[in-house]
Amino acid sequence: MMDWTDRHCRYVHRLFSPHALLYTEMINAKAILRGDRARLLAHDPAEHPVALQLGGSDPGELAEAAAIGAAAGYAEINLNCGCPSDRVREGAFGACLMLEPATVAACVERMRAAVRVPVTVKCRIGVDRHDDYRFFETFAAAQADAGVAALIVHARSAILGGLSPKENREVPPLRYEVAYRLKRERPSLVVVLNGGIGTTAAVREHLRHGIDGVMLGRAAYHRPALLAELETAILDAGFRAPAAEEILAAIVVYARREIAAGTRLHSITRHLHGLVTGTGGARAWRRFLGGLAQRPDADADTLTAALPLIRGRIAA
Ligand SMILES: Cc1cc2nc3c(=O)[nH]c(=O)nc-3n(C[C@H](O)[C@H](O)[C@H](O)COP(=O)(O)O)c2cc1C
Repeated sequence: MMDWTDRHCRYVHRLFSPHALLYTEMINAKAILRGDRARLLAHDPAEHPVALQLGGSDPGELAEAAAIGAAAGYAEINLNCGCPSDRVREGAFGACLMLEPATVAACVERMRAAVRVPVTVKCRIGVDRHDDYRFFETFAAAQADAGVAALIVHARSAILGGLSPKENREVPPLRYEVAYRLKRERPSLVVVLNGGIGTTAAVREHLRHGIDGVMLGRAAYHRPALLAELETAILDAGFRAPAAEEILAAIVVYARREIAAGTRLHSITRHLHGLVTGTGGARAWRRFLGGLAQRPDADADTLTAALPLIRGRIAA
């Protein structure tokens, strides 16, 4: 999630779930080809498995960026066809690509030819007035024919040029049944559902409808303990959700290493606000993190001082 997630966030989330597939925020294929590639693709081996999400619409550029991403160790290459921001639209990618299923299919084919890892697409269920099932089905069919390994469906339309990106994640109604229907009609296509999913019960319900998987955005960011709940409920019944202080102890070790390499502590701790969400200690914890942000010289051991604030707690 652009501006929210990064490699530090993924390191933290991995502590909550050993098996969930994590995704990078969208990275412009052109930036990988012409920018600071090493910085953009840097990640810790502990984050694995991680999918790299690309933004772009030029099949050749995307294929090249995909090959570079796969060589850097990413486990999947995903193409963003769901972002509604003006900046992305001006670059002719993101959600407006749903209006060009053949172009996206060409991108998928070229990326597939360039990498061995799965190539997937994340999309909406419609764009502007194109919000009928046939429009969505035409887009999905083109990607299935191009050999897409999975379609990740944010189950609301994107309104381009009228709503802000934030409104585009809240205002258009969620219509999960569109994704259910696609899965019913095309059982061989792997369909992953996204949008407004925030409880283990909801995940179970979607899986009951035949959906192959779910993707969580905001709920996982705000309350990463949900990832641990899902790990136990869906992926590994033997998994024991870590206590908040165990998570923090692991982060102290990580932060020491990162700070030595030039990272600021705040770049890591900004992802920890949800560590004890829903428990009595949440406010004191957030206050502590807020104070930390004002101290550019804070080192990893400063975090150790916060252990009593969260000891014995786990985000509910
Ligand atoms: C701050 C923010 C940034 C986002 N950036 C991306 C992005 O880079 N790529 C993407 O596919 N979706 C992005 N999204 C959308 C989410 O991945 C997700 O599709 C959307 O929030 C709906 O799912 P949720 O209700 O589980 O959050 C972003 C969402 C937020 C809140």
